[in-house]
Amino acid sequence: MSDQTPAKAAASTLPSIAVLISGRGSNLQALIDAAAAGRLRARVRLVIANRADAAGLERARSMGIETRVLAHGAYDSRAAFDAALVGILKDCQVDLVCLAGFMRLLGPVFLAGFPERVLNIHPSLLPAFPGVDAQKQALEHGVKVTGATVHFVTPELDAGPIVLQAAVPVLDDDTEDALSARILEVEHEIYPKAVQRVLHGDWHMSGRRVVFASQPAADPRG
Ligand code: GRF
Repeated sequence: MSDQTPAKAAASTLPSIAVLISGRGSNLQALIDAAAAGRLRARVRLVIANRADAAGLERARSMGIETRVLAHGAYDSRAAFDAALVGILKDCQVDLVCLAGFMRLLGPVFLAGFPERVLNIHPSLLPAFPGVDAQKQALEHGVKVTGATVHFVTPELDAGPIVLQAAVPVLDDDTEDALSARILEVEHEIYPKAVQRVLHGDWHMSGRRVVFASQPAADPRG
């Protein structure tokens, strides 16, 4: 007789995702919450941080999710760090890797291990304002609209094919903190949606466009 409860048996048939973090982990939390609520049909199998003090690790542990810390400084090269990450993720039979505030560039060694299977979330409407301090860049540039982007990861920084975006207004009296908080709200909405669509949607790549067989709702947050 199987010792699995029906809930455990159902969970084991879900695709597995790994979330890579370096800090706070609020997007990790959004993915965990969406999975728990059934809005995201996936299991957060593993959380990896490149810093032992990443606050998101505690969020994962408190939910009983396996965590690993892989300090990049302990590796001789980016390729060695990437290879170690791939080894762990393959051992855990991860289907999709979600970067969520992971402050390390992943190179070809990593990406070859997970072709079209690595997503990132970025706090701007890419290709505007790639790199660090995207919200500050938006304020300094004076744009009236910015937002958040979920995209596939390629070796070029924040430049991979776009899965989902959502816009937020920039207000005249915005501070970097106020704007960041407004963007973060939509990040938490679109990341689980994008992961769900990549895992379960009918999509293909056309050039650098991610084309879904069925269109998302007009408002990707809706
Ligand atoms: C988010 O703004 C995300 O877009 C960016 O890093 C931040 C991570 O925040 N890549 P959190 O750790 O998910 O709270």
